Amino acid sequence: MSKKAKIAVLVSGGGTNLQALIDAQKSGVISSGEITLVISNNANAYALERASKENIKTAVFLKKELGSQEAFENAIKNALTENEIDIIVLAGFMSILSESFTSAYPKRIINVHPSLIPSFCGKGFYGLRVHEAALEKGVKVTGATVHFVNEIPDGGEIIMQKAVDILPEDTAETLQKRVMENAEWIILPQSVEKVSKEIIG
Ligand code: GAR
Repeated sequence: MSKKAKIAVLVSGGGTNLQALIDAQKSGVISSGEITLVISNNANAYALERASKENIKTAVFLKKELGSQEAFENAIKNALTENEIDIIVLAGFMSILSESFTSAYPKRIINVHPSLIPSFCGKGFYGLRVHEAALEKGVKVTGATVHFVNEIPDGGEIIMQKAVDILPEDTAETLQKRVMENAEWIILPQSVEKVSKEIIG
């Protein structure tokens, strides 16, 4: 079996989750899919450099330049079609996609979120804010969730979750780092392999 699912990774920032996917591809954790395109909505995202270093094709689409959410999403859709993408992975992609976009790819868009959904998720919960909210609430356990994306922000079917303990001395930054290292970078590649394998049959 040589056919692999073609994966596009959508990013906005540092791209450590993209790096985890690249590393997983190299180590064989991901063997049923191949990252063939990285799309960013931020021209300065370090994630773009991570992709270029691996000779992965990149594209940048700026909502401001394109003028509307619709034009922005159409540009992304065109790039996905041109590159014959099977799976779209949102890895730190800080832009909410409209229902018209998500409904075009049922069970084909995967997101990683840095909490145990349904806690600390939905509109306004992204990046460090998620960890600040967990610390404010005083929960003792948090984690990460990988889920399919539908029209409800962070509301689609859960693929994998992993719990991470919160320590008394944690700041949002130390907690973010532990959740990434001990949960996100593990379950995102595992989930991408699982979905890729199902797609290629
Ligand atoms: C990650 O913690 C990811 O889970 C989170 O942003 C960070 C991106 O880091 N995503 C969200 O909060 C989405 N709601 P990265 O660019 O280093 O992968």
